[in-house]
Amino acid sequence: MSDEKQLPVPSEKASTPVPRLSSPSQIQTHGLTAERAAKIVNQSGSSRMAALLGIAIVTLFIIVYAFYDQGLPGVEGSSRLDAAKHEQYLESVKRGYNLYEANCARCHGEQGQGGIGPVLNDQGKLLAHLTPQYLMNVLTVGGRYICGDANSLMGVWADTNGGPLNYREIEELIDWLRATTDDVVKVRDPKTGEMIEVTGWRDVAYAPAPGATPVPACWKDAFAVSPSPSGPATPTPSGGMGETYVISAVSPIEFEQSAFEAAAGVPFTIVFNNNNVGVPHNVAIHVETATGEEVFKGEIFSGIGTRTYNVPALTAGTYAFICTVHPIMAGTLTVK
Ligand code: HEC
Repeated sequence: MSDEKQLPVPSEKASTPVPRLSSPSQIQTHGLTAERAAKIVNQSGSSRMAALLGIAIVTLFIIVYAFYDQGLPGVEGSSRLDAAKHEQYLESVKRGYNLYEANCARCHGEQGQGGIGPVLNDQGKLLAHLTPQYLMNVLTVGGRYICGDANSLMGVWADTNGGPLNYREIEELIDWLRATTDDVVKVRDPKTGEMIEVTGWRDVAYAPAPGATPVPACWKDAFAVSPSPSGPATPTPSGGMGETYVISAVSPIEFEQSAFEAAAGVPFTIVFNNNNVGVPHNVAIHVETATGEEVFKGEIFSGIGTRTYNVPALTAGTYAFICTVHPIMAGTLTVK
């Protein structure tokens, strides 16, 4: 204990306070000045406000973005995903159109109006007959899938079965064939090379008339029904028949004869040779043009074969003789 240093006991004299926290009097204030205090309160208030605003902006952005991304509730197709899907679909329709014009139009018509092959743009057919699955089967198996005709002119298209088109191309074709009138795509016109807008064929609002005949499974059956009363069923009146004219179908889109003349007021006979294996044809007579009123319709039958049609007397004028199944087959009949 003895060698412990004793702290000097401060004497009375040395008791002057040590100015340890001495600083200039203007800084060393025990409280804050009124203005300074007010300023601090103010600053922390506005930084809280700024933070609040920041949070509000971020929250609002998240909400708006969510609607933009996910779509408005109840508004179909307004989401970004839907929009992207629709764009992809339209791209597929566009490619399908190009495939169609390149591969199918020469037989089915540029607008699907039919030619060598049956009509494809018919609303009744598009509604109930040309379903995606049916189209897939037809394009995969080929024309024989349609009416069971082994000699069908329509080949196989899918490469899974030896055809030229791959799976994706078949899907694109189906997307085009089933495209609706709401689907508008910009494409290059195969003939002029100019950009044009094309619209799908299918009208989603279409409903068949009540009591309408359903589309038959085999398109040829649509022609087999309702033979014209003036057709071959009419027995040939003995005597009184005028001239006999021979008309032949030489290709699936052409009659051999492009025109013939008949006498006015005298019944006449048409001997029609259908030389196209498995392809149904007939001869019908319409007033003036192929779209004019039908005055005679011969029985439709598949080639190869011959029918004799007895045509009633016609008044003088110009008529068109056509094939009901292939209206592009047409010639002129002059009656005088
Ligand atoms: C050489 C002419 C030809 C070409 C080219 C052609 N078709 Fe056909 N198509 C036909 C014929 C003829 C039929 C009817 C076949 C039958 O009944 O045997 C047919 C039938 C069809 C049918 C069934 C129609 C129905 O009413 O059931 C569809 C669908 C079809 N073709 C789609 C296509 C598509 C798509 C292409 C292009 C990839 C195409 N066709 C190319 C001649 C052709």
